[in-house]
Amino acid sequence: MRLRDLRSLQLLCLLEAISLLPWTGALLCYEATASAFRAVTLHNWNWLLLRSMVCKLREGCEETIVFIETGTSKGIVSFKGCTTALSHPPQISYLVSPPGVSVSSYSHVCRTYLCNNITNLEPFVRLKASESKHPVPSTKFCPTCVGRHDQECLPNFVTTETCPFAASSCYSSTLNFQAGNLNTTFLIMGCVRESHKLLANFQHIGSIRVTEAINILDKSEAVDAGHCSQGPPWTILLCPLFIIRA
Ligand SMILES: *[C@@H]1O[C@H](CO)[C@@H](O)[C@H](O)[C@H]1NC(C)=O
Ligand SMILES: *[C@@H]1O[C@H](CO)[C@@H](O)[C@H](O)[C@H]1NC(C)=O
Repeated sequence: MRLRDLRSLQLLCLLEAISLLPWTGALLCYEATASAFRAVTLHNWNWLLLRSMVCKLREGCEETIVFIETGTSKGIVSFKGCTTALSHPPQISYLVSPPGVSVSSYSHVCRTYLCNNITNLEPFVRLKASESKHPVPSTKFCPTCVGRHDQECLPNFVTTETCPFAASSCYSSTLNFQAGNLNTTFLIMGCVRESHKLLANFQHIGSIRVTEAINILDKSEAVDAGHCSQGPPWTILLCPLFIIRA
């Protein structure tokens, strides 16, 4: 083949490659996963977007962030990538609302170039602005932690926190979140309204597959109404209530 022919062929291939991209509807989306449990705050978290991926035909870009709070501890598990789900504007809501252990999620699916571009927790700041900052406390305490069992939730790091009056049962579970390259297993312990599966109705959060396994709390860990006599006099009146609820 002559050089000129080769050049023309190369040019033809290049043109074809360029024309093929928009033609097949291939979309470029950010690809990222994150899980953070240490020193997470609503204001310091910044999601670095370093990678992108070309989606399959008709796929869109997704971004899903799950924000978990128990006592003073916070955790984030999140996913960005391609999805077959229909496009929808950003949605933010509580899956499990406070007081006590709370789980909220942000989810967005779009179909324009690198549109899954959120890098902060601004939507959660707005969600939480409406919530009561000082719920009425109870006399019950629960072990409290969110994180990996061999890191943030090692026994030494599990704190014992006072439960809000409206959420005075102890809860502990192991959660697994999976989507694309994301595969995070972590522990949540804290105060809840009723100690059953918190995320039973949410097998999926966006593309994230959720599995929840309840852990049996060691009786000695759950400090309960037996400590009533140590509280101020009015707590004695509340004690029968907790004994019945327990
Ligand atoms: C994020 O994507 C939207 C399109 O969904 C675009 O309008 C906006 O400018 C992008 N923001 C940044 C910081 O790239
Ligand atoms: C996720 O990780 C667990 C272990 O941490 C492993 O058993 C499981 O096979 C992994 N799942 C996937 C889909 O990679």
